[in-house]
Amino acid sequence: MLVSLRDIIKSFGGGLKVLRVLDGISLDIAEEFVALLGPSGCGKSTLLRIMAGVERADSGSIVTAPNVSFGFVFQSPTLLPWLTVLDNVALPLIAKGVDKHLAREKASKYLSLVGLQGFEDFYPTELSGGMRQRVNVARALVVEPTMLLMDEPFSQLDPLTAEALRAEILDLWLSGVTTVKGIVMVTHNVEEAVLMADKIVILTRRPAKVLKIVEVKLPRPRDRRHKDFQDVVDMVYEYVSA
Ligand SMILES: Nc1ncnc2c1ncn2[C@@H]1O[C@H](COP(=O)(O)OP(=O)(O)OP(=O)(O)O)[C@@H](O)[C@H]1O
Ligand SMILES: [Mg+2]
Repeated sequence: MLVSLRDIIKSFGGGLKVLRVLDGISLDIAEEFVALLGPSGCGKSTLLRIMAGVERADSGSIVTAPNVSFGFVFQSPTLLPWLTVLDNVALPLIAKGVDKHLAREKASKYLSLVGLQGFEDFYPTELSGGMRQRVNVARALVVEPTMLLMDEPFSQLDPLTAEALRAEILDLWLSGVTTVKGIVMVTHNVEEAVLMADKIVILTRRPAKVLKIVEVKLPRPRDRRHKDFQDVVDMVYEYVSA
């Protein structure tokens, strides 16, 4: 197991304004692709941040295997507009004290992997939304993480760009050219979860509990038009709309 969460509880605020967000979440993540699916505001981003260790749970435990590290693709745009694409991607390494030359070399390697060779010296505003999201993925990969955590990485993209990037990320992961062993992706798109994930964790409304875990056994690459695919989609919708 890469990460095990047990009975994670989290509230925000205090006094009369206390808001319970996570209500005892337990989850095991192995070398697999896990989709976290749940209604807006139920606590998906909070759960991902707790997993990455950037937010603290009120109670419960998180156990990670030795040497597990995280790369994060955030829900909201976080590229720095005054830095070039290359320097944006190199930033997490530089922040960790890696030599600037080496950091840029690594950044360049991961930009190539996401198909952005030749755009190193561009600024984020000079890129399309899809290209910017590739930069975000490269910046998550540059720290050479064991786990890639992605928070609705495709929700801001047009359908064709999103579909292309989904396939590329699956390819990168399945081909083993990166260090990533496990992926956790937040989504509220049922079809996207069935297309990509080995395991779909369906969360309830806030305060979130695990409603159901659906194992997706369909062979890859998956065909959205196949009847078996549609059957899984229908089954997941049953839980989501319950
Ligand atoms: N730092 C914070 N301070 C106070 N409340 C917060 C904070 N972060 C999140 N919340 C609250 O916790 C709840 C869950 O937020 P979260 O961002 O985890 O939801 P989500 O499932 O990711 O939603 P969405 O699908 O809209 O992205 C929301 O009601 C939000 O208002
Ligand atoms: Mg969110």
